[in-house]
Amino acid sequence: MSSPVLGIMTLYLNEHRALEERSIYRRMILEGRKRGLDIYVFTPADVHSGGRQIEAMVYDEKNGWSREWRAFPDLIFDRCRIQRNHRFQQLLAFREKYGHLLFLNRPLRNKWTIHQTLSEQSAFRQHLPETILFQDMSDVNRMLKASPLIYLKPINGTGGRGILRVERSSKEPSTVLVQGRDQKRRIITPRKVHLSRLGPLLQHWNMKDKYLVQKGIQLQLPNGRVHDYRMLVQKNGEGEWELTGCAGRMGAEKSVTSNLHGGGQAIAMQRLMKQWIPEEELREEVTATAAKFGIDVASFLEDTYGDLCELALDLAIDKSGQIYLLEVNPKPAREVFARIGERNIYYKAITQPLEYALWVYRNRPAQTVRKPPSPRTATSKATRLKRGRRVK
Ligand SMILES: Nc1ncnc2c1ncn2[C@@H]1O[C@H](COP(=O)(O)OP(=O)(O)O)[C@@H](O)[C@H]1O
Ligand SMILES: [Mg+2]
Repeated sequence: MSSPVLGIMTLYLNEHRALEERSIYRRMILEGRKRGLDIYVFTPADVHSGGRQIEAMVYDEKNGWSREWRAFPDLIFDRCRIQRNHRFQQLLAFREKYGHLLFLNRPLRNKWTIHQTLSEQSAFRQHLPETILFQDMSDVNRMLKASPLIYLKPINGTGGRGILRVERSSKEPSTVLVQGRDQKRRIITPRKVHLSRLGPLLQHWNMKDKYLVQKGIQLQLPNGRVHDYRMLVQKNGEGEWELTGCAGRMGAEKSVTSNLHGGGQAIAMQRLMKQWIPEEELREEVTATAAKFGIDVASFLEDTYGDLCELALDLAIDKSGQIYLLEVNPKPAREVFARIGERNIYYKAITQPLEYALWVYRNRPAQTVRKPPSPRTATSKATRLKRGRRVK
């Protein structure tokens, strides 16, 4: 019997067909081979001849990367991240046309929709910083009255782009300090302005319906740098959600975001938490609560939006040990674990989706085939029933 085939779907970064995460895919392909899983990488732009053939990227140790014409895979792992261009439109068309195929994960939603969905659950509410969708400056002023610190974040942003931190001065209540990063992730020059000047300053940021106004959590370490945690939750080889690992991140100097791509530094979770929460007992409690929360969020979002195989949560922990969810990342990088030398966790972060893919394949509905079957919804519902999940 031939091996099941997993297609890792991604997007080219430019017209020269550059790819992100090539080295992760290489490792996945080699680890897949050991497990009897045949893996190739493709983008929606590589689907040709009436949609039956894929100009796939394959890898082997002897020849390195090469191209090969392949049939549609048995399973698709969607690694596509948001882009504002025609490639993303191509992806949307692919998801629409081939929605009946077996996907390990379906797209999630923007930060605002996810916030609203999670707020429906009372158990999650205590972990969600107060958040509203920007309509006009009155939202900002209201939030600044209730909290001396707020964050303004694009609902579709990634990597710390376009994020502003506004802090009311304790000495001069009508003055605020504005810091952050522009859309290209460059640190903007900090500005101290009178509250009445904040509106004109933000005007060209075009925030209406595109930005969140969120209560800010004080996360500055004694060295002045901000910090938070990156938690990776994945489905395992038994089809169950599992916490793979959690790592700390410390932002670059003068940065109000901790993202590694913005110059942040990775630090082992407990090492970082020790600097923030001295009581060991409290640290243990926070760690256990965060783990349960991460798994509950993943399984709730999967029940709500459809199949998922992994998620990363950006978590903030305040001085009292209260945990806040800053963001849910549906296409997480795994680098943070490599950077802190947690090799076993890094290995697991790479191999767990493969174990899960094999589980999905073993448990797929009998009628699943590689070519477009119909009707469209019948297959995905059958898949979910088979996996014993709530069907909406
Ligand atoms: N409400 C907040 N309070 C304090 N820091 C925040 C808040 N929201 C975001 N941050 C900081 O900004 C970073 C990026 O924010 P996030 O919501 O994760 O957006 P992105 O998608 O750009 O990563 C976080 O990792 C954290 O360091
Ligand atoms: Mg983030």
